[in-house]
Amino acid sequence: PDLATLFADVRRGMIPAHIYNDEEIFRLERERLFNRAWVFVGHESEIPHPGDYVVRRVLDDSFIVSRGEDGQVRALFNMCLHRGMQVCRAEMGNATHFRCPYHGWSYRNDGRLVGLPFHRDAYGGEAGFRRKGQTLLPAPSLGTYNGLVFVSLDPEAPPLRDYLGDFAFYLDYYTRQSESGIELRGPQRWRIKANWKIGAENFAGDMYHTPHTHTSVVEIGLFREPKAEKRKDGCTYWAGSGGGTTYKLPPGTLEERLRYVGYPDAMIERMKANWSREQLDVVGRDGFLISAASVFPNLSLVHNWPRVEDSDDVLPFISLRTWQPVGPDETEVLSWFAVDAEAPEEYKALSYKAYLMCFGSTGMFEQDDVENWVSLTSTAGGSMARRLLLNSRMGLLEDGGNVVPPLTAEQFSGPGEAYVGYGEYNQRHLLSRWADCLERPPAPVRQVQVSRPD
Ligand code: FES
Ligand code: FE
Repeated sequence: PDLATLFADVRRGMIPAHIYNDEEIFRLERERLFNRAWVFVGHESEIPHPGDYVVRRVLDDSFIVSRGEDGQVRALFNMCLHRGMQVCRAEMGNATHFRCPYHGWSYRNDGRLVGLPFHRDAYGGEAGFRRKGQTLLPAPSLGTYNGLVFVSLDPEAPPLRDYLGDFAFYLDYYTRQSESGIELRGPQRWRIKANWKIGAENFAGDMYHTPHTHTSVVEIGLFREPKAEKRKDGCTYWAGSGGGTTYKLPPGTLEERLRYVGYPDAMIERMKANWSREQLDVVGRDGFLISAASVFPNLSLVHNWPRVEDSDDVLPFISLRTWQPVGPDETEVLSWFAVDAEAPEEYKALSYKAYLMCFGSTGMFEQDDVENWVSLTSTAGGSMARRLLLNSRMGLLEDGGNVVPPLTAEQFSGPGEAYVGYGEYNQRHLLSRWADCLERPPAPVRQVQVSRPD
């Protein structure tokens, strides 16, 4: 079938199964989606000091995300201006300069070219090759929110804050529990033989899989109460470029509810000082605690509160992750542990354990999930999948109406649209955005050859 039909099907929640493993679709994603969208590459706390850097990818493109001596964060395309070698091959570190391993051109950590071996003999010195003004190619657009660093390959990308839109309201629950924001550990990085969209959709709104896929995690008593109970009363919300799921908390005040999931009082005080009235009301008045979420296209967040060690107490953890496409049937997962920088050290240590138990390469949830996604992906690559439209219409009636009405402002204080109970609203939002991107013809690529002689 033609692409127009494919996109129309996707928008009504009927998903051509092959989009989860298809070379041609992947080519379009590369050209029209990852060439344009804001992609998360790291957090400022990973590179706190001048000279600190991490190397991160946006699909095939490697960037050195580095903090210069001037304190500014930059994303520099990791390709030498001479013959194209990767300039930095370490994954993270601290350096005043990067020297290309091939012929030894060297660059400052702000990207400026400063050294060429045999400059005079090979190029006739500055007369033949002027170093001034030559820099590693910067990412076309760079933006930060609460220290989260995003890049876009589109020089005309809308400002990051506009792109995030009202999802920023929800991002604060994970990344701004105090004035100091978060600090990260990791990332753990590994590859799974699964399409990148599946994880993004799952984290955006799949409350439905939890009681089934993760039965064993519930059965061993990792949670304070049977998760299925809390799940069906939770809601899913979508706002701006992202959406997620919530838990319905037992009745109580804001403080009681945050204590119930394991936050110490000192942390609760800082949340009260840093969140808006509406942000506090979502928890305190409405009783919804923010759980998993995804930002289009491939950033996901988790907030969960399992039991830790052998105690009866639960403790929250936060994780960020990206679903970094490698090919139509392979994804590199980068998973970070995140914690409020002002949290007590003991809390940080236990919260990290809680994270490792649930997510990351050894996490119990992670392994349950990935088993499904790998199997789904390999099946989607066959011939029969081309004949199958998957049903992603949960929460929708045949006539297009909703099974339940959206929550009113009296029931839910957050921006966007929220529905209580099970529903694939967010999966449809995510894939509709995906269709919008793939439908738009690519912008012409302008060549920026910094080393061109005038
Ligand atoms: Fe980098 Fe030649 S390719 S110095
Ligand atoms: Fe899961």
